[in-house]
This record gives sequence, structure tokens and C-alpha cells, in this order.
Amino acid sequence: MTLTRRLALAAALAVPLAAAPALAQTQITVQHALPANSHTGVGALTFASAFERLTNGRYKVVAQRNDNEREMIESVQIGTIDCTFTSTGPVGNFVPEVRIFDVPFLFRDATHARGVLDSEIGQQVLARFPARGLVGVIWIENGFRNMTNSRREIHTPADLRGLKIRTMENQVHMRAFTTLGALPTPMAFSELVPALQQGTVDGQENPISVIVANNLNQVQRYMTMTRHVYSPQVMICNPQTVGRLNQADRALFQQAAWEAQAANRARVTADDEAGVAELRRRGMTVVTEVDTAAFQAALAPAFAEWERTLDAATLRRIRDWR
Ligand code: PAF
Repeated sequence: MTLTRRLALAAALAVPLAAAPALAQTQITVQHALPANSHTGVGALTFASAFERLTNGRYKVVAQRNDNEREMIESVQIGTIDCTFTSTGPVGNFVPEVRIFDVPFLFRDATHARGVLDSEIGQQVLARFPARGLVGVIWIENGFRNMTNSRREIHTPADLRGLKIRTMENQVHMRAFTTLGALPTPMAFSELVPALQQGTVDGQENPISVIVANNLNQVQRYMTMTRHVYSPQVMICNPQTVGRLNQADRALFQQAAWEAQAANRARVTADDEAGVAELRRRGMTVVTEVDTAAFQAALAPAFAEWERTLDAATLRRIRDWR
């Protein structure tokens, strides 16, 4: 077992052992956004089958879809469901230290993002969850987010001016879009398609994997490969659910989570590779020439604010990570 894995096992599941025997709970309910056949569904279903297999069927894991991520986290917190696979979108409202990973243009590529999240930096943030009544088990991902809209091609920040863009309920993302001159409108993903159909918003931003899995090409004409922010996901569980597992089952639980992470990341990589061609095939206009430097320059006031309001030393460590 690598150091990272030992750290993850120690930190992520560091909640006191309860007196109850391992067999007291045989069913675990896990909710995830998006269809079963998406990178998120694949992660949750891999966890489910791996944990059932590793425990020889002593546990049954029921996976359910819920496109309202804030609601899923609240349900985990109060214990009406056991675990969720969620983007970090709303997580910063529960565990503010997570917001550092939502800063635009922080990660160079998937290797950088995955490396940081699996390192001590990511584990330290997972270790903040128990103070908020949650257990952060493992980092998975959505991938890099791209902008879509129904009005025009976006090449520079000037093209974004005045567009109503749905964002997640995430104050870092909202600040970014305001700074870029757009009108951010936060809402749960479950409300997005009707909002696009009714023109309440002009556009949205999500990784290719999400755009393909949800057929957003049916309600959006243009996509620009802005890759403006990496979108982590995290598996979050209820502390009592984890506390009811005995030591051996906790190790199997973590093992199942690693299998889920590998399946999720492989699927995001595959979706990213095939997605542009697929969306063009479905009739979308995909802009790949993007003035990234202009987006970064336009965000300068927001970057300065995040240096003050987030953890500047950790931001530097993340940028310098090799
Ligand atoms: O846009 C969002 O809310 C998230 O990216 C999604 C689609 C629910 C996946 O985590």
C-alpha cells in the first residue's frame, strides 16, 4: 500500500469506531447525479459492486440518481442517505476549505489535478469534513468545465458579456463569472434544462462528460473549450454509516472507493477524448480556439481576492506541484 493510500485510509475514515457489530447495517444507499451510464454513475456503481464483492455480499449498496447535489449532501448530513458522489459545486457551503479547488485555471491538466487531490494536500482537505458532520472518503472527478450557450460563439471574455450563465451554487464560480462580465445564475443541475428551454439562462458550463451524458446539445448550440476550471467530485458519507463499519470493513470500503475512483477517472478521460467529435456529430458548433490568456487576465481582480480570502500558501503549493 502506497503512502498516499495509507494517508487516505487513516484520514478519510478517521471517525471513532461505534460499538455496533459490522453486520448491524447491511444496506448502504449512495446517491449520485447524472445517468447510471455516465462518469458519475460509473463511479457509484463501481463502488457498489466492489463493496458488495469485497464483503462477500454482507452489504448491499443501492445506487440512486439525484441531480440536486446540495440536497444530497444535506441528506447525508442528516443521515437519510449514507453517501453521495457529488461535485464540489455546493460542498464549499458545508466545508469551506474545499473552495480552494474551485479556483479557475488552478490546475494545468488532469495529471496535475489528480496528483494534488491524491496527495497530502487533498487528504488534508478531506480531513476537514468530520468537523462539519461529514466524512470525505475519496476524490473523484467531473473533469475540466467548458462553456455552452444558445446565443453566440465565445472566443474571448468580451463574448461572454451580458450572457446569463447558470453556475453551480458555488461562490468562487459565481465571482469568476461576474468578473468576466457574465450574469451568473446559480441553480441545481435538476433545474438546468427547463431554465435553458425557457430562456431563463442563455448558457451553462460543465465538462464534456456531463454535456454528452445529458444531451445538452439539444438545448445549446455553441460550446467553447474554455477548460476554465477543473471540477472535482468527492464521495461523502454520513459519519455514523462509516462508524458502524468495523476496522476490516472500513479497509474494504476504502478499497471499493479506490476502484470507483479508477473507473470514474478512466471514463472522464475517454469522454474527453471522444466528446468533441460526438458533440459536433450531434450538430453543436464547438470552438476550440480560445484566448485562455485573455480569460486569465480578465480574472485578475478575482485572483487577487482569492489570494486574500482562501489559503494563499496552499494555492501556491498547488500551482507549484509537479
Ligand atoms: O453542473 C453541475 O451541477 C455538476 O457539474 C453536475 C452536472 C451535477 C455533476 O456533478
